[in-house]
Amino acid sequence: MKILVTGGLGFIGSHTVVELQNEGFEVVIIDNLSNSSEDVLNGIVAITGTMPIFEKLDLREKKSVQDFFKKYNDISGVIHFAASKAVGESVENPLLYYENNINTLVYLLQELQQKPEAHFIFSSSCTVYGQAEKMPITENSSIQTAMSPYGNTKQIGEEIITDVAKVTNVNAVLLRYFNPVGSHPSAEIGELPIGVPQNLVPFITQTGFGLRAALSVYGDDYPTPDGTAIRDYIHVVDLAQAHVVALQRLLSGKNEAKVEIFNLGTGTGSSVLEVIHAFEKVSGKKLPYNIVPRREGDITEAYANTDKANTVLGWKAKSTLEESLASAWKWEQKIRK
Ligand code: WQD
Repeated sequence: MKILVTGGLGFIGSHTVVELQNEGFEVVIIDNLSNSSEDVLNGIVAITGTMPIFEKLDLREKKSVQDFFKKYNDISGVIHFAASKAVGESVENPLLYYENNINTLVYLLQELQQKPEAHFIFSSSCTVYGQAEKMPITENSSIQTAMSPYGNTKQIGEEIITDVAKVTNVNAVLLRYFNPVGSHPSAEIGELPIGVPQNLVPFITQTGFGLRAALSVYGDDYPTPDGTAIRDYIHVVDLAQAHVVALQRLLSGKNEAKVEIFNLGTGTGSSVLEVIHAFEKVSGKKLPYNIVPRREGDITEAYANTDKANTVLGWKAKSTLEESLASAWKWEQKIRK
């Protein structure tokens, strides 16, 4: 059974390709290599022994998308990761985000709606909740006005899919990720941030390795126990496995609605200082950091209520924060060799 993974050479995409292959799926990857490298294919093969089909293609080119589906008319399901995801960059360059995150989704759905059956897994984000009123966050928590064009593209993407599923044979699962971290235990694949990492964990591991002088902690004046902001850090392999479970749910017709939504987190919130201390414990390194003012657009707290994913989807995150950080640290040391 052939599954299309767009953005399949990216951080979460590549880990999902591995888990799909482990379950016996044949994988076709589309990636334009704007935020990844073809070398990731070697990492995937090193883990599974199977080379996925790879098509270098930009989903912003409608004709290329149409030609792809003419060539591969036996795609049983699509997991759609390909998108730009840097919050700050989206504020500076909104049209890059609306073109790359929305147009591409429209072109994919225009092809899928022509197929007799279309199963679609969408990479969404807890960012759609903004600062939720109540913790832990459930899937019924209200969707707040997006804090960035990036977050808005996730909200719009969910709405587009919902509207299309209502009137076509497209079935979809929207997966709202909390904070993906860590790397495959083999250290054959992992996060490859380009330039200065925007996200906390890659900045920590680069600082731990000595590539950065110190971590800037964005604010210690939040209304939290230690004053630093709280997030739900989920291991990328746990996240990848959730995509396979969601796909299998659709393929087996077990979905109870045309569109289902699941929060993917661990259910545990960790503050920035707690992440720093956990990293110091697993690495044996003292992490230099400075407290600086809050980052524009950051929220105080977000962690998932995982009941629906645990009971309806039948999936639960396994890795602890320390295990996630240990895998991220192992990967950092491996790629710097
Ligand atoms: C985590 C915490 C920062 C860097 C965003 C997107 C989300 C997803 C993940 C794409 C925050 C603090 C960070 C640093 C710090 N994006 N921090 N110093 O902002 O929760 O989520 O990235 O998949 O959709 O919204 O993640 O890792 O940037 O920040 O103190 O150098 O770490 O303030 O509290 P975030 P993050």
